[in-house]
Amino acid sequence: MRMIDLIKKKRDGGELSKAEIEFIVQGFTTGEIPDYQMSAFAMAVLFRGMTPVERAHLTLAMAASGDQLDLSSIDGVKVDKHSTGGVGDKTTLVLAPMVASLGVPVAKMSGRGLGHTGGTIDKLESIPGFQVELEEHQFIELVNRNKIAVVGQSGNLTPADKKLYALRDVTATVDSIPLIASSIMSKKIASGADAIVLDVKTGNGAFMKTLDQALELARAMVDIGKLIGRRTMAVISDMNQPLGNAVGNALEVREAIDTLKGQGPADVYELCLTLGSYMVYLGKMAASPEEARSQLEEAIASRKALETFRTFVAAQGGDPTVVDEPGKLPTARFTFDIPAKEDGFVAGIRAEDIGTAAMILGAGRATKDSPIDLAVGLVLHKKIGDRISKGEPLATLHSNREDVEEIRERVYAAYSFKKEPVHRPTLIYETIRE
Ligand code: URA
Repeated sequence: MRMIDLIKKKRDGGELSKAEIEFIVQGFTTGEIPDYQMSAFAMAVLFRGMTPVERAHLTLAMAASGDQLDLSSIDGVKVDKHSTGGVGDKTTLVLAPMVASLGVPVAKMSGRGLGHTGGTIDKLESIPGFQVELEEHQFIELVNRNKIAVVGQSGNLTPADKKLYALRDVTATVDSIPLIASSIMSKKIASGADAIVLDVKTGNGAFMKTLDQALELARAMVDIGKLIGRRTMAVISDMNQPLGNAVGNALEVREAIDTLKGQGPADVYELCLTLGSYMVYLGKMAASPEEARSQLEEAIASRKALETFRTFVAAQGGDPTVVDEPGKLPTARFTFDIPAKEDGFVAGIRAEDIGTAAMILGAGRATKDSPIDLAVGLVLHKKIGDRISKGEPLATLHSNREDVEEIRERVYAAYSFKKEPVHRPTLIYETIRE
């Protein structure tokens, strides 16, 4: 086989076989296929697309390009969740203990992440003592004992995807549904998922800006799941404003704890109930998503989910008393309220701008090695549809520095207002079932 022939075949709209796709992925991973040929191939895929079967082959080939986690010694169906990412997304912190409290094993590998705030792993590290690095056998033991463990990514998972993503980033080939779908799914397969629930965000703060794009990506991933024998469901959820009120690592942990106590923001709770009900259903712990939902509501009301969170934190070396005393989480030295300048209704909050404000405060990383301040961020007091009176705080900045003028201006610029009442946006647009 020669790479040039395969590029030509894709360029002319042909369908590649399993062997051809494996040849490309293996050759690229080892370096035998150079970046310039892989770039040409990625561009050919961007223009010509891939059939569902080609996407499934690409997913499995990328999953097999490095280490694969073997979770077979964990009892039960291992259901993983993936979010395409958004501002204020702390769902994993809530969902993982919620579904684990119903007996669904959560063996989750999470990332640190670049951008507005840290990833789930950074957020967990804001709990004093919490260990995100576990040996594989400890990780498996904890899941078998408590039904839940969350660790940072280790080992050499999906090197083909890492290399390809970096190349796509500089060759204008990120925006290809087959490449995005197989990239995401390959990582879930390599981390051992038997079944997958996807949260595909849409809106101004999301990777997929329009509902049509989000639907296309969600369907592509559900189709891949079906072809490779991993039951997959997807939810399309709103990212036209941040999720919940808190944006920042420790602030989000605090909000996640509030949600587990039944006192969190309505949107975070609703999204977690929806995603959680699919996880519990795919995990075979309920006969339908509806039944799973009422079990989850009960787990929140009875504090069973909160107790699972406490056990999970303690098992990984963290201080479980943060549940009752959230003041033990890292706290910023200063808070600054941002008052509304006029009466009216909130018409929009550009999620991306709020994320950038959090990042400038120090909550996120600009590059892989930048430091991160776990204490800082923002808490929004007003969301789209809320009435606001002049002088009332729109948001509070939690900062470790006093010069926040630029950040304050960014927050003002992120908000827009109307004089007349505004509808609250839909939170969940659609669910794609297998
Ligand atoms: N996120 C991923 O993991 N992969 C992509 O290709 C795009 C977004």
